[in-house]
Amino acid sequence: MNVEKNIDRKSFSGKGVFPAKYAFTLLLPIRNIVFSPKKLISLLNLRSDTKVLEIGSGPGYFSIKVAEKIKNEKLYLFDIQKEMLDYAKKRIEKKGLKNVEYYIADGKTFPFESNFFDIVYMVTVFSEIEEKQTYIKEIHRILKPAGLVSISETAGDPDKMSLEEIKKLFSDFGFKEDNESGSLFYYSVNFKKL
Ligand SMILES: C[S@@+](CC[C@H](N)C(=O)[O-])C[C@H]1O[C@@H](n2cnc3c(N)ncnc32)[C@H](O)[C@@H]1O
Repeated sequence: MNVEKNIDRKSFSGKGVFPAKYAFTLLLPIRNIVFSPKKLISLLNLRSDTKVLEIGSGPGYFSIKVAEKIKNEKLYLFDIQKEMLDYAKKRIEKKGLKNVEYYIADGKTFPFESNFFDIVYMVTVFSEIEEKQTYIKEIHRILKPAGLVSISETAGDPDKMSLEEIKKLFSDFGFKEDNESGSLFYYSVNFKKL
């Protein structure tokens, strides 16, 4: 996949990979009204020893609160844009958090061993991933048995897929719906690895 080309074709309001130059908009506190880190955490059932992968962390709007919650384990951030990871790292280090690792995605493969994570989550990411089926297969591989993948999407995103489309894709690749929640502004759905 030509990542640069894919990123270039998206303007702030267009489809495709969200450009790093607009990363600051992902940190606006108004996002809390739509879908907050607190809300995400309430849906993930995190313990202090939960091993977590965040795909498409962007500048880390959700990452800090998640890393604080899993203080005896690690949060792994995985993003296709180095600038996003650098931005997240700067913010996370400023908070003094030491339990976060950073990985650049190549759009296809995951550099993690099988049965490794308890939870994988994505917020406003899944719909913009180009190789969706490849990603779902990889997520299935790297999750521990009965591990969870959580997908959240918010209103106003031009890439946003319907909840039904997402459910169909995950059920086709070895996942069972676990629970879902939503409002006018967002939906969030968790699937369990079968
Ligand atoms: C709209 S931003 C959301 C960032 C963050 N989740 C948030 O809600 O603040 C989407 C992020 O997903 C990343 N992304 C897009 N396609 C990706 C892929 N195939 N693999 C990993 N990250 C990807 C982008 O680089 C961007 O940082």
